[in-house]
Amino acid sequence: MSDEELARRAQQAFADRFGSAPDGVWAAPGRVNVIGEHTDYNAGFVLPVALPHTTRAAVSRRDDRRVVFASVQDDGSVVELDLAELAPGRPEGWAAYPAGVVWGLRERLGGGVSVLVESDVPVGAGLSSSAALTCSVALALRDLAAPELGPLDLVELARRAENDFVGAPTGILDQSASVLCTAGHALFLDTRDRTSEQVPLDLAAAGLELLVVDSGVTHEHAGGGYGDRRRECELAAERLGVAFLREIDDVTGLEPLADGTPEGAVLLRRARHIVTENARVLEVVAALRGEADPRTIGPILTAGHDSLRDDFEISVPMLDAIVESTTEAGAHGARMVGGGFGGSAIALVEADRMDAVLAAVSERFAREGQDQPRTFTAVPSAGARRVA
Ligand code: GLA
Repeated sequence: MSDEELARRAQQAFADRFGSAPDGVWAAPGRVNVIGEHTDYNAGFVLPVALPHTTRAAVSRRDDRRVVFASVQDDGSVVELDLAELAPGRPEGWAAYPAGVVWGLRERLGGGVSVLVESDVPVGAGLSSSAALTCSVALALRDLAAPELGPLDLVELARRAENDFVGAPTGILDQSASVLCTAGHALFLDTRDRTSEQVPLDLAAAGLELLVVDSGVTHEHAGGGYGDRRRECELAAERLGVAFLREIDDVTGLEPLADGTPEGAVLLRRARHIVTENARVLEVVAALRGEADPRTIGPILTAGHDSLRDDFEISVPMLDAIVESTTEAGAHGARMVGGGFGGSAIALVEADRMDAVLAAVSERFAREGQDQPRTFTAVPSAGARRVA
């Protein structure tokens, strides 16, 4: 559906709910990360693309200091409270994400706000539905109340909503992808100084497609595993005497972690993933910049998966099964994406092999007794934008 059609639908839904037209409609996409997983909170490199799937926020300012969040999903659920009542933990649930953004700009806003959201970003699939939600609302509030905010301020506003208000200890990958990505490109971002480069990624011209397969195993970052990995990385950095693992650029620099204890062995594996993953991002970027055949990045993606499975230990059997079945059926490479413990995997596939790869995935899910997975092709799409 075009941006215009999506905007009209959101305007209509807003009018049905609030009885008037919204001040505007803003859209922000979900993402898949081509390579660079869990590197963001280690001040490392990432390379995401924005998905065509977006969250739309239809928004109006109001002068009664009430904040109202309505969702077309979630059975039309509505959450309403006073601007002054917003605080971490209040509200909870899906509305905490847009509420965190409003909270971040509460002094600029002065009055209240009505927000209606509609989304086709799959939830719980590791495709950043939460960043799509926070970034669409951040862009709306920028346009309505804080025009001086630049793109990096919006990323930061959305990150703080997620970290400080919702309480999910994520890095900056998802929000950066949702705000900064452009169509036809992957975003090469150095999360240390936040500099970025748009790297052309025209897979279709090379006869390739980036397949996304949702494992159907849902994940939750506010829960344990993600935070555990983050703490392990911080501890490894501390033991190595660096501020962030990004500062180690060769695995030989990790030797001091191997102190003969089981804990040292775990920290070594976690840190090795970060160091090798940063190198993989640079390798993929060099290949794409140098106009190498994009097929050559396939094995780097699979090496990234092996590292997430064996060193970082955040894969799950169905993600491994997707990687195995797609590569066995001829994909050039495949890997799980996102925070781990569920979510989706990507595979780099010849367009004319796609049917065979999909059949292999389908057969594998059936054999494992799983429901057939949601699959789609990730076309690098535009970042957050006003659509009406
Ligand atoms: C989640 C987090 C990101 C990033 C990825 C892993 O998506 O929100 O900040 O850490 O996991 O790369």
